Amino acid sequence: MQEVNPELVKYATLTIPGHDPIQLPVLKGTMGPEVIDIRALGKQGYFTYDPGFVSTAACSSRITFIDGPKGVLLYRGYPIDQLANKANYLQTCYLLLKGDLPTKEQYEHFEYEVKHHTLIHEQITSLFKAFRRDSHPMAIMCGIAGALSAFYHDNLDIYDPEHREKTAIRLIAKMPTLAAMAYKYSIGHPFVYPKNDLSYAGNFLHMMFATPCEDYKVNPVIERAMDKIFILHADHEQNASTSSVRLAGSSGANPYACIAAGIASLWGPAHGGANEACLRMLEQIGSIDRIPEFIARAKDKNDPFRLSGFGHRVYKAYDPRAVVMRETCHEVLNELHIKDHPILDVATELEKIALSDEYFIERNLYPNVDFYSGIILNAIGIPTSMFTVIFALARTVGWIAHWTEMQEMPESRIGRPRQIYVGKTLRQVKAMQRRKK
Ligand code: CMC
Repeated sequence: MQEVNPELVKYATLTIPGHDPIQLPVLKGTMGPEVIDIRALGKQGYFTYDPGFVSTAACSSRITFIDGPKGVLLYRGYPIDQLANKANYLQTCYLLLKGDLPTKEQYEHFEYEVKHHTLIHEQITSLFKAFRRDSHPMAIMCGIAGALSAFYHDNLDIYDPEHREKTAIRLIAKMPTLAAMAYKYSIGHPFVYPKNDLSYAGNFLHMMFATPCEDYKVNPVIERAMDKIFILHADHEQNASTSSVRLAGSSGANPYACIAAGIASLWGPAHGGANEACLRMLEQIGSIDRIPEFIARAKDKNDPFRLSGFGHRVYKAYDPRAVVMRETCHEVLNELHIKDHPILDVATELEKIALSDEYFIERNLYPNVDFYSGIILNAIGIPTSMFTVIFALARTVGWIAHWTEMQEMPESRIGRPRQIYVGKTLRQVKAMQRRKK
C-alpha cells in the first residue's frame, strides 16, 4: 500500500528553563489541524502529560477524518450522509478496508466472500451454553469474540496480507451470526442459521427474528434502516474501542482477541453503551413534564447523571450521524404506523430544551449518534440490551481496518503510554510485626 506521510511545515520551539531550546517538527496531514511531533522529547528526558489523550495523536491514519467543530465525518474522503444514502454497509466495509468504493465486480466478489463465511464453527454453539441465561449479550460477545482466537490462531500469520484480509472477511461475516445467537440464547430460542440469499442487514434481521417454526419476512424499509445504522457506526477514527484494538494489536496479539478488547471498551456507557443508556434514560424520563428535572440533574456537578446521547469528545457541533439517524427514525416510525411514540416525543422535546439551554450551548453539547438509534432499534423490536451489540457488530469493520492499517505501517510500534508517578518514594520493607497501620 502506498505510504502517505504527513508534511513537515515548520518547527516549533519548546523552551524549558535550564535546557537548550528544543526544536519540534510541526506536521500537517492531508486535512485537519497541524500537529506537533514530540517523538524526540523522550530522548531529552521529558514526557508529555495528557490524560484521556485529549491533545495527543497516537498514530497517523488514512481511514476516517472528523472535523469536530464543523460536524464533518468522512470515511476515506466520502461524507457519511452520502454513504448512508447512496451506498450500503458492505460497500462501506470494502471502502474502509481497501480505500475505495468497489466496482460492481469487486462488490460481487466481496459480497460472495462475506456471505460464504457467515457460518460459525459448530463447536462455538456449545460455548454459548456455558453462559448464564441472564448474561448481558455484551458479556457474551466479549467472551465469544475472544474465543474465536482459539479457532483461528496457529495457521494465522498476521504479517501475511492475505491472512489479514481473510481475518477481516471472517469477522465481518460472523459478527451478525454471533450477535443474533447471543440474543437467541438470552431468550431461550434455538439459534437461526444465516441465509445467504438475503442482504447483510436482512440476514441479521432474519437470524434475530425467524424461528424454526416461522419465517421472518424482511421489510425493505427496516432492512435499509438497519443497514444505515451499520454504516453510521462503521468507523470513527481513534475512539476508545478502536484505540483499544490498536493497543492490543500493537503487541502482535491475535486479531480476534484484539476485537474482544474493542468490544470490552465499547461496552461502557460513555462510549457504545450510551445507546442502551439513552433509551433507558428516555424511558425513565417518561413524559415531557419531567424533562426539566433531568436537565437540572445533568447540570448538577454533585450528581453523576449525564444526558446520555449528548456530547462528544470530538464533535463540538451536531453529530452528522445523528442527522441521518433522526431522518431514519421518522422513516421507520412511519413505516410501522407508529403515530404516538412517547419516547420519541420525550427525545424531541429534550433535544429542543437542551439545545436552547445555556449550559449545553456553552459546552457545545449536541445530540450524538446514540440519541436516535435506540428509538429506531426499539421500534424494530430489538431489545435494549442488544443495542450495544449492534454497535459492536457494525464497528468491527472499523476495528479490523485500523488493526490492518497498523500492521502495514512501518511507524507502528508497541503502544506504551508513560505516566507521572505520584506514589511513595523509595522505602524499605519491614518485618510484619514491625509494620504499623
Ligand atoms: N450531560 C451533561 N453534561 C455533559 C455531558 C452530558 N451528556 N457531556 C459533557 N458534559 C459536560 C461535562 O460535565 C463538562 O462540564 P464542565 O466543563 O463544567 O466540567 C463538559 O461538558 C465537557 O465534558 P467532558 O466530560 O470533559 O467531555 P469528554 O470529551 O471527556 O466526554 C463524552 C465526552 C461523550 C464521554 C461525554 O459527553 C458524555 O459522557 N456523554 C454522554 C454519554 C454519550 O452519549 N456517549 C456517546 C458518545 S457518541 C458514541 C460513541 O462514539 O461512542
